Amino acid sequence: MRGTDGNEPSLLARPDRNGAPAHASVDPRQALRWGARQHDRWLERWIRSTEDLARLQYSHRMLDAVIDEIDGRQIRVGDQWLTDYASCNYLGLDLDQEIIEAVPEYLRRWGTHPSWSRLLGSPILYEQIEDKLTALLGCEDTLLLPTITHIHMSVIPVLAGGGTVFLDSRAHKTIYDGCALAQARGAAVQRFAHESLDHLEALLRDSSWRRPGMICIDGVNSMTGNAPDLAAFAALAREYDVILYVDDAHGFGVIGERSPDEPCDYGIRGNSIVRHAAESYENVVLVGGFSKAYSSLLAFIACPTALKQVLKTAAPPYLYSGPSPVASLATVLEGLQVNDLRGDQLRSKLHHLTHRVLDRLRELGLQTPNHSGFPIIEVPLADPDSVDEVGSMLFDRGIYVTMAVYPLVPRDEVGFRLQLTAANTDEQVDHLCVVLGEVAERFKLQRAAGE
Ligand SMILES: Cc1ncc(COP(=O)(O)O)c(C=O)c1O
Repeated sequence: MRGTDGNEPSLLARPDRNGAPAHASVDPRQALRWGARQHDRWLERWIRSTEDLARLQYSHRMLDAVIDEIDGRQIRVGDQWLTDYASCNYLGLDLDQEIIEAVPEYLRRWGTHPSWSRLLGSPILYEQIEDKLTALLGCEDTLLLPTITHIHMSVIPVLAGGGTVFLDSRAHKTIYDGCALAQARGAAVQRFAHESLDHLEALLRDSSWRRPGMICIDGVNSMTGNAPDLAAFAALAREYDVILYVDDAHGFGVIGERSPDEPCDYGIRGNSIVRHAAESYENVVLVGGFSKAYSSLLAFIACPTALKQVLKTAAPPYLYSGPSPVASLATVLEGLQVNDLRGDQLRSKLHHLTHRVLDRLRELGLQTPNHSGFPIIEVPLADPDSVDEVGSMLFDRGIYVTMAVYPLVPRDEVGFRLQLTAANTDEQVDHLCVVLGEVAERFKLQRAAGE
């Protein structure tokens, strides 16, 4: 295969969706040599670390798949109908009739797209969302930007300044990228072992680091489904007077404040990890998004009003990036209303379905990193080389998952990730439980301790 310069593989080439992948012969090592020839060590390292992903991209039907049609939580890829366990639509609001029917009225009033950057003109819908969100989170203020990636890339460098970022080694890639930019602008970055409060404290105790300081961590982890000990991290942040910056992309909408009346241990209202841990926002900056539980393109930062005002000019996307489409602002506003009225019911169903899958894994004696009960369940393989075949079997049996290959997970956790949503049904989970048994019979999966 020739690339655009006539000699090299195009890194942008995609497989042909009809029949065998047109570029199945693309060899990630070829791309690696291309990267190396650019004398770009960063690119070389990155391409090498994504080699497994690149190989599967060209060989596997569950990576880079084109979805032809959906019917509830069923999706069609080519001729195959599958149940989707790979989307992050945790509350199932993407399929909620009440929300779908409300959108056209917003489009009639606002057109399809605002097309002002926020600093140049913010439709009042933004203010309405910020007010409701601030009340829901119980924080001082919130600022909306299109995506969490925009927020990490723009806000982390501002908060880090010329100081020090203490970064959880397993933080999301988009946090890493925000930290890399902060580093390029003069901040120092020190990594600590995943969720290790001891390691973090040892770094904080060393008085040689430059202030200001910030700690960057994930809330509910996108692969393990577990949450960090937020209260302990917040306590350290306060003790050493640094900011705790938390990305709760997967917790917002799913977990919330605890209540004696809660229908399940996800808590109520879905107001994210800070409230779930009964913490205050002192020294804490919370980042979250609507693109998962609320099925809408929008993200937020919960912070003091004074910081919000600074970010309006200091964080480039507020001035330089295009806005979220009106349909997304509409689905957020309507979604917040649905959350008020029946969010806890949806979370209760999500909890029920998730626990059915976790119970089934337990019954099969299988290991999963998930010990939280939140709706992200990774199933690691004993033999990582079988990931392709396991994925093929799941696909043939009508189960659509995320292939959890390196670097999405560490090499000893390679496997597949299941995500439940409130729009899945008990019948779908019945079938999933049967297929999990078949997979466990045919392949070596990691066994739970004591099995
Ligand atoms: C933990 C985490 N942070 C950030 C993102 C990126 O979010 P966005 O699409 O809003 O940029 C994701 C997306 O999957 C995520 O899982």
